[in-house]
Amino acid sequence: MKKRLLSIMLVAAMVGVMVMGCSQKADNGDSGDASDSGDSDLITVGYAQVGAESDWRTANTESFKSTFTKENGYELIFDDAQQKQENQIKAIRSFIQQGVDYIVVAPVVETGWETVLEEAKAEGIPVILSDRQMDVSDESLYECWVGGNFIKEGEDGGHWLEDYLKEKGMDGEEINMVTLQGTIGASAQVGRTEGFANVLAENDNWNMLELQTGEFTQAKGQEVMESFLKKYDDIDVVIAENDNMAFGAIDAIKAAGKTCGPDGDITIISFDAVKAAFDAMIAGDLNCAVECNPLHGPRVAEIIQKLEAGEEVDKIQYVDEELFDTSMDLEEIVKTRAY
Ligand code: AHR
Repeated sequence: MKKRLLSIMLVAAMVGVMVMGCSQKADNGDSGDASDSGDSDLITVGYAQVGAESDWRTANTESFKSTFTKENGYELIFDDAQQKQENQIKAIRSFIQQGVDYIVVAPVVETGWETVLEEAKAEGIPVILSDRQMDVSDESLYECWVGGNFIKEGEDGGHWLEDYLKEKGMDGEEINMVTLQGTIGASAQVGRTEGFANVLAENDNWNMLELQTGEFTQAKGQEVMESFLKKYDDIDVVIAENDNMAFGAIDAIKAAGKTCGPDGDITIISFDAVKAAFDAMIAGDLNCAVECNPLHGPRVAEIIQKLEAGEEVDKIQYVDEELFDTSMDLEEIVKTRAY
């Protein structure tokens, strides 16, 4: 870190630019500044976070903030991009300007990152992807990625529905469904939509009436579900590509005078498995939650320690994930959960 800061300052002095003086702070969130630290032994990490759109995201932010502490040897510069790619690009440029040691990005969407990653590479700053992936032609632009297997999550949700309908003796019936998709172009949306579609293709009696984005938020999930309920009076299943959209859907279904969950009119499958999803399953409103683990902070710290030691790291690193439904002892399980 010392060497990198020194060389940046030398170059800045030569061209008469006070780099440290005019370093731009990231626009959103509670970012610190690498030049504020005053403790050059710390490893400086800039984290370009998606936003604060869901319970999952809050748990993910907390995982980074509690891992990348001064006590653990890090200076964390955190930026909340408010679900906007342009804000994330600005934040990454700010991290580069501040001469951070590592950049971590949870990209809002998969495409459009080449230019800013090349800028980081030109400064010799390693980039680690967390949660969602990037679709770039040159994979050397980032060190590695750690996150959930979104296609598998979608397939797991589909296979759960196959088994559930079989158990209820409904496996030959026409089943009408709608999907509340995540942010279009985000890996979690792309993968879950694709994974579920793989299982849908094997079930001729499943009829996907419509897919529409609810932007991974509860408010938008509720709004889209309200419009689905006005348009279709025969929805049997809702696929909500995250828990918060499922919570919005539950509110919309109840407001429309219908019921949901294991004893209700509409079956709901959601993704993330945050604590509030367990509460919704225990309350009998939600059928199934496919886990997406948000606790990436320690995994990313482990990667950084390996890179510091000059070790190789695996390019793609999946986290372990499970599936939970109302046939399980959820009250006991939820006591053991960290998010
Ligand atoms: O990328 C992970 C997804 O993003 C989570 O499912 C969702 O809750 C979040 O907003």
